[in-house]
Amino acid sequence: MTLAALCGVAAPDVTAPWEDPARPLSERADALVAALTRDEKIALLTGGPGPVIKAIPRLHLPAVRMSDGPLGLKMKTEAGQLASVRTTSFPAGMALAASFDVPLIQEIGAAIGRECRANGVDLLLGPSVNIYRVPQCGRNYEYFGEDPYLAGELAVGYTLGLQAQGVMASVKHFAANNQEYDRYRGNSVVDERTLQEIYFPAFRAVVQRAGIASVMTAHNPLNGIHCSDNGWLLTDVLRQQWGFEGFVVSDWYSTYETVPVVKGGVDLEMPIARALAAPRIEAELHAGTVTEVEIDAKVRRIARACLQLGIYGPGRSTAAPVDAATHRQLVLRAAREGLVLLKNRAHLLPLDRQQTRRIVVLGELAAQTPYHGGGAASVPAHESRSLVADISAAAGAGAQVRHFTALDSADASQQCADADVVVVAAGFPAAIEGEAHDRPFDLLPAQVELIRRASTLNPRTVVVLVTGGGVNISPWLEPVAALVHAWYLGDGCGHVVGELLFGDFCPSGRLPISIERTWADAPARANYDTMRSEQLAERLFKPAYEAKYGKIDPRDFFPINYAEGIFVGYRHYDAKDIAPLFPFGFGLSYTTFGYSNLTIANRDRQIDISVDLTNTGARTGAEVVQLYVGAVQPRVPRPPRELKGFARIELQPGQTRRVSFMLGADDLAFFDPKSHGWRTDAGDYAISVAASSRDLRLTRTIHWPQ
Ligand code: BGC
Repeated sequence: MTLAALCGVAAPDVTAPWEDPARPLSERADALVAALTRDEKIALLTGGPGPVIKAIPRLHLPAVRMSDGPLGLKMKTEAGQLASVRTTSFPAGMALAASFDVPLIQEIGAAIGRECRANGVDLLLGPSVNIYRVPQCGRNYEYFGEDPYLAGELAVGYTLGLQAQGVMASVKHFAANNQEYDRYRGNSVVDERTLQEIYFPAFRAVVQRAGIASVMTAHNPLNGIHCSDNGWLLTDVLRQQWGFEGFVVSDWYSTYETVPVVKGGVDLEMPIARALAAPRIEAELHAGTVTEVEIDAKVRRIARACLQLGIYGPGRSTAAPVDAATHRQLVLRAAREGLVLLKNRAHLLPLDRQQTRRIVVLGELAAQTPYHGGGAASVPAHESRSLVADISAAAGAGAQVRHFTALDSADASQQCADADVVVVAAGFPAAIEGEAHDRPFDLLPAQVELIRRASTLNPRTVVVLVTGGGVNISPWLEPVAALVHAWYLGDGCGHVVGELLFGDFCPSGRLPISIERTWADAPARANYDTMRSEQLAERLFKPAYEAKYGKIDPRDFFPINYAEGIFVGYRHYDAKDIAPLFPFGFGLSYTTFGYSNLTIANRDRQIDISVDLTNTGARTGAEVVQLYVGAVQPRVPRPPRELKGFARIELQPGQTRRVSFMLGADDLAFFDPKSHGWRTDAGDYAISVAASSRDLRLTRTIHWPQ
């Protein structure tokens, strides 16, 4: 009796060769392609109705259901409305990145995977790994920051966790989708070295180290060719250079003409049949401009991934039960680890509960605290609360917490002046920061005014930032006593900031971005059109965009010049010797850490690095030990140093732990556009263990031989 029959499931004969798990995957995929009719194969190339890969009932292939993420499972109905299913809303990618905690991200990936399985979702549209290039990008909040190594490590953890549950991941958006305004026409003009060193590594990492099932294209053209038509991107780089064996899904509606999409390398067009619609494919097959071999290759890649994850064929493991309490703990842990304390004048924080009885909380966002930015990545939160509720709960019984949206009355000003502490919430709600449009670098004028007035009235003023990236902090920072970057925290929203302020845990988040002192210092300042971005601030998804501006001619675009090249984020600040306001990797703690006994053994093309980390303060806390490497006299322009390792280590007061890293030739390499390959030059390399990109604690130089 077959396995399916034993489980009481109606299924085809498992003796069909593609069903036999004992056979090699590639043979099974071939066999499945051979079993499909031409019509069935063409049907598999386009999604819908609803977010699915179509079912093939004749062969008992189920519809493969997909859902947005990556910050949790976003359940929608067939009609595209939010479903009333309770799933966990995890903190923004930026908050997760600030934790620098790969095992945590892997657990979150697994938790999302379990929720997918429990809700019949087989493909989760994430992780999102585009690099933070400009603070204005509306989708920064769902990404993992400015550093390709950090983004790659986190994305690998996320993908391994998710796919271990039998759920396919789809890394997005490939490639160079780093701003949102007029995103269907913004042509990212990026040289090959910059793509390979900055914008590709996180994608390559999930392909090569996590065996990711799927890659999603980006809406934008890249170097003059739309990503979904881009054969260099999807075939030469992704498949040939990196060995990707999964399937490529088009970003929603970002396909244009049939032949370029077929040749370019998209396997699955979403969300509905347009370029790959059956009549159009048939016509091209008939004309000989497209071949059945090309169609088969696409179907084979989809089939292979679905067979590999057990979505097709017998033996789909039973969905593990979702333990809501565990997921709740995970959200809170991630939210705590993601908070970054940026300023703490004269140790105002942590607040003493006995002494902090009158609290004033200010700002609209304190009462309506956004749990995510807007767009696809926003996953409804069921446990989120306001910052006012958060602080009231943390302050404890007897504390008087007053909230004002503005300081527009004598009472409000008096309360503010008399308070033991004032907390101002500032940042952007989901209507301003989110997908399909960009947001300003400056906070809204009313918020700046509120911060200024509050800090004039009361020197014990703390600002809590609720936004997915950097904002213009310099104009109002000086009089403010303390500053916390709280990002968006999903279901953790409204539960952890008060705990941080009152010292229930030690802050340990570190910035996954550099925050510029002024926009004039920013690496992409000359290559980002602030005026156009502000003019086009309306949120327009493709169907609405086309309704307003007409169908897009795929050759009609405007350039976004990535003229800063590889010098993104701290790579720029370090190379130009400009001090950012807050550097990449920075974050304060309530305890202190000492670094000592750095040893580096450099033999047989392997560099072993170890250092002692000691908690030299009085509180238990975690440090993020960062490892930076830089060529001392490079033959081509290179960043002075680049992140090549990190470890989040929690220690009790007085405790010491030895922390080790290993580097190889690849970690010293740069991409050589002449040979179109990676190259490690012989020479000296400075290796630093650091508390931030600007706080190098111990440095040694090693020689890498020829
Ligand atoms: C977004 C994707 C998302 C898809 C489905 C697109 O517009 O760019 O990230 O997965 O919509 O919602």
